[in-house]
Amino acid sequence: MFDFTIDGRIVSVKEGTTILEAARSAGLHIPTLCYLKNVSSIGSCRLCVVEVEGTAGLVSSCNTLVKPGMVVHTNSDAITAARRTALQLIIADHGLNTTQYCFSCPKNGSCELQDRCRELGVETTPFDVKPAGGPILDSNPFIAFNPALCIRCQRCVGACNNAAGNHTLITGRRGVRTSILAPFGEDWKSTNCESCGNCAGACPTGAITMKRRRQYRSWEIQRVRTTCPHCATGCQYNLVVKNGRIVDTEALDGPTNHGLLCVKGRSASFDFVHSPQRLTTPLIRSKITGELEPASWDEALDLVARRFGEIKARHGGSSIAAFACARSANEDIYMLQKMARTVFETNNVDNCARVCHGPSVAGLQRTLGSGAMTNPISDICENAQVILLVGSNPEEAHPVIGMQLRAAVARGTRLIVVDPRDIGLSKTADLHIKLKPGTNVAFANGIVRQLIHDDLIDHAFIESRTEGFADLKAMVEAYTPERVAQICAIDPRDLIAAARLYGRADRAAIVYCLGVTEHSSGTEGVMSLSNIAMVTGKYGRPGCGINPLRGQNNVQGACDMGASPGDLTGYQKIAAPGIVEKFEKAWGTQLPRFKGLYATDCFPKMIEGEVKGLFIFGEDPVRTDPDTHHVIKALKNLEFLVVDEL
Ligand code: FES
Repeated sequence: MFDFTIDGRIVSVKEGTTILEAARSAGLHIPTLCYLKNVSSIGSCRLCVVEVEGTAGLVSSCNTLVKPGMVVHTNSDAITAARRTALQLIIADHGLNTTQYCFSCPKNGSCELQDRCRELGVETTPFDVKPAGGPILDSNPFIAFNPALCIRCQRCVGACNNAAGNHTLITGRRGVRTSILAPFGEDWKSTNCESCGNCAGACPTGAITMKRRRQYRSWEIQRVRTTCPHCATGCQYNLVVKNGRIVDTEALDGPTNHGLLCVKGRSASFDFVHSPQRLTTPLIRSKITGELEPASWDEALDLVARRFGEIKARHGGSSIAAFACARSANEDIYMLQKMARTVFETNNVDNCARVCHGPSVAGLQRTLGSGAMTNPISDICENAQVILLVGSNPEEAHPVIGMQLRAAVARGTRLIVVDPRDIGLSKTADLHIKLKPGTNVAFANGIVRQLIHDDLIDHAFIESRTEGFADLKAMVEAYTPERVAQICAIDPRDLIAAARLYGRADRAAIVYCLGVTEHSSGTEGVMSLSNIAMVTGKYGRPGCGINPLRGQNNVQGACDMGASPGDLTGYQKIAAPGIVEKFEKAWGTQLPRFKGLYATDCFPKMIEGEVKGLFIFGEDPVRTDPDTHHVIKALKNLEFLVVDEL
């Protein structure tokens, strides 16, 4: 930290802070246009200029670092005049007064150029510039580019290249002829464009816009902050609501997405809300026609209560099961598992983690005591020197994490991809180990053995923080590079190289997904990856740890809430002494004492006739579970099935 002076105030800053950042943290306003935090600071618009004593002329504050003892002035007649001139040049280029009219622009009312003009009192321009122009590109279904409105600030280029790591949107030519080469023309499908719309989110004017914006103006809408309902990245965004209908989304600077969204989140995450296909009334299957027919809520609720009551009275609570929705809120999941336990009197309650990251919960609990990511996503993408990515294709399954990983690799993070598939990230990986599916445990054991042989292990960490190392060392000794290479069908030199790259890094993170968990040895796969991090002491530090990329957006919450046959809320084990009694006291009723069935075990029990009633809350096991025919056969054998679904 050191001191400098800004507008007569002495302010303390960290080394590497820009004048703009320092001014903002001191509560001082400096207008900007081309600057966007963590996206672009090319310093081209000159709106942020300030005076620095001892420096000739004005400097752009967005990309000038504060130096000890510096004296800065953010306001003077000369500064205001320079900002106004810069703005007049920009609006001349924007075609204002000649070809463009704000009224027809989709950004009218939420245009940063308009805002800056209002702020600096600029309404016209004395400059006679012929705007660049060009045909409007709008073949992309979601995004349109109007070059005539482009002020060449290049924030879109920064969003595509620096933030999303996509490198599709680029700058052509130089100087006053600078133009943005946006991939939204007729050939848009042949480009790398993912239609994520982060360029549109970054654009300060109406040059690149989401087509949805044409439906509304800023003064017609409300914003509702929420979490994207797709994958488990947890992107934060605003739903844009006009007349009670969601019309758009706006990315927010959330802890995991930092202002980014993917095509799913930005353009496909809310249409279901107003879908005419949504159910608006309960449906009961008619015994006469066999069809689902509309019913009143009273009829439906009475039927559900009566039929589950009858089944419980005849066959006991263990003949009923319930599946929770991992896309719903914690409170709803909590109520579902509580209903199963207190009303159905069964612990046969589970969620979709059973067929995706159940092994993560079990494997990480067994090795670490907690079944969740050990490090935040932003920490991995910003602080890891090496990332070991196993059985995961984040660009498709968790695109916003994929973007941040791409950007991290572009900044120099080393990447090891362990995956039988040629995924997008393998193109820029240091190593791509295409191991045979189902051989993750042997691979991880081979890595641990190599780390031990190269003495790349953390003896102090092992001594103070782990147990059973001698047994592990003895067990992995058989996993020589040659043997692992044979089991995994890989080159033994790649295994050694991967172990050394990971082991020699001070900060290295393991990231994995269903390629590790969706195996009969999934739990062991997770545990053996966890061993890699433990023997190297890569836990409890930034840029390290072991990190499952979960599936549905609240699957972690579903497990936390206790939608699990062996765990009550907060992973309190049914089998542990005193736990059931504790919940009985809190809930004021008697509870079943034995662990229930896993969701996957419920289906054979339905076929055998032991499970006769099922309540499915926001899940579709026919689509998501393996062996669709088996699931359908099981569901058809039920006496009573309730589907609580949109
Ligand atoms: Fe600093 Fe544009 S915001 S030069």
